[in-house]
Amino acid sequence: MPVTTALDAQAAPPDEAVAPLIRGIAVLRHLTEAGGTAGPSALERSTGLARSTVDRITATLARMGYVRLDGRDAVLAPRVMELGNAYLAALRLPALLDARADALADELDESVSLAVADLDGIRFIHQATRRRAMSLSFRIGDLLPAERTAPGPLFAAEWTDTDWDRWRERRAADPRDAGFTAVPPRDPSTADDFERRARRAGRDGWALDDQLIEPGLVAVSVPVRDPGSGRVVCVASVVSHTSRHSADDLRETLLPRLRTAVAAMEDDLREAPPPHAGPAPSGLATWTTASKHELGREFVESLARGLTVLTAFGESRSALTLTEVAKATGLARATARRALITYEHLGLVAPGPDRTFTLTPRVLGLGFPPLSRTTLPRLAAPHLRALADLLHEPTALAVLVSDTEIQYTAGAAASRVLTVDVTVGARLPARPTSLGRVLLADAPDTPDRPDALPPELAEVRARGYALVDEELESGLRSIAVPVRDRTGRAVAAVNVSTHAARRSLEECVTQVLPELRAAADLIQADLHTASRFTRVALS
Ligand code: PHB
Repeated sequence: MPVTTALDAQAAPPDEAVAPLIRGIAVLRHLTEAGGTAGPSALERSTGLARSTVDRITATLARMGYVRLDGRDAVLAPRVMELGNAYLAALRLPALLDARADALADELDESVSLAVADLDGIRFIHQATRRRAMSLSFRIGDLLPAERTAPGPLFAAEWTDTDWDRWRERRAADPRDAGFTAVPPRDPSTADDFERRARRAGRDGWALDDQLIEPGLVAVSVPVRDPGSGRVVCVASVVSHTSRHSADDLRETLLPRLRTAVAAMEDDLREAPPPHAGPAPSGLATWTTASKHELGREFVESLARGLTVLTAFGESRSALTLTEVAKATGLARATARRALITYEHLGLVAPGPDRTFTLTPRVLGLGFPPLSRTTLPRLAAPHLRALADLLHEPTALAVLVSDTEIQYTAGAAASRVLTVDVTVGARLPARPTSLGRVLLADAPDTPDRPDALPPELAEVRARGYALVDEELESGLRSIAVPVRDRTGRAVAAVNVSTHAARRSLEECVTQVLPELRAAADLIQADLHTASRFTRVALS
């Protein structure tokens, strides 16, 4: 049974709302709550949509790169993170404050998070996580009930009567917190003193979570205030476990250091330069120009167009008028207007000053949390599989682990009998392998001194690929290209192996290289989207 929150239970959608957009958003939300993967029957059940509608929506989302179809399952794909990225870029807070949060986590050797208010819940916008055996840790975009957290009472200290009414209604409708999939169920018999905690938090300027979510988990929080308005813009928390700190202990030993860090964050906000105004995006809705034939019969254009509206927002584009949205997306004004009306109804967009619209934290509930802890090997896997299937040759992803060695981090075998075996975790010498050569050619100390590179690596660097012929093993040919991070550094390499009897050296360049480059570009694009606001592990 889908859990209805106060907002979902709201009045019927306005006449002008776009029904396919509402349905598409429902599918994205349920995929997110299901952990990122769901079959058609589960989607039918959770959204109440007909099977044929679910199929058309997932086909459209797949065409947009927001989901991948894995057999009959729909799986959230990294590109969907561009929705949450639009919200986080517009908000600017993680970008302005994350370095301080990370430094505090290092200083204290405890996890530190930043959270914003989302109606009567809190949502994480940054996590500097310490890996520990005993602790549940939340992901960016996770929604928690305000009353079971340390940040909650600090936000609630500013609530209006309407906010408190909404909270009471939700508590009555969902006493076990079933609508909050990130937390364990609540025991409804436990006493609740949230109103008193909120009053104290307002007075003290800090708040504690003494195992409100689960036994052992403790946190202390301090609000970060906007230097202009004095309003709480986010809350910084230090999170620990009772095996290391009791809640009282957190208050005595870590709260003073958290307060110092928050004071520095507020100084940073005061001195922040105006948002970086890049060129305004235009023509985001390429779906409007592609023909129905190209997009396929199943493609739901109104869903694709509507989703594009969210990506019109970003840094220096946090509050947009209807005209600005229409211009950035290339959509007709009437289409953009109906999408905004739909989003306002869904609580994803809120009216701002001067007839503008802004994104709400709820946008992070569209696919972000399940993907916020992804790794490069996981991002690469479907692309490696597709490449191996296309060429009928094995492919692999590797990273440099020392000056002399690479390590396989992912691979896809070919459908041939005689094939190269890629064992994830295996190490190989870097110099005689195509993977190693593209990585060595880009090693951090070399870019400014390309003449210091041995000639064969300088050539690899200039060409952008490495082709190795039977150096590692007789008959083995392989060709590799780099995968670059957002700063342009080659953080991994991807290759295709073949046998000398199967393809000539020239064919490796004319037949394999273009497909290899295309696959590497897809991996790279996913890496850039996923790593904009989260840390993507390379192995
Ligand atoms: C967290 O960042 O994981 C966190 C923060 C505050 C809480 C609980 C968990 O109250």
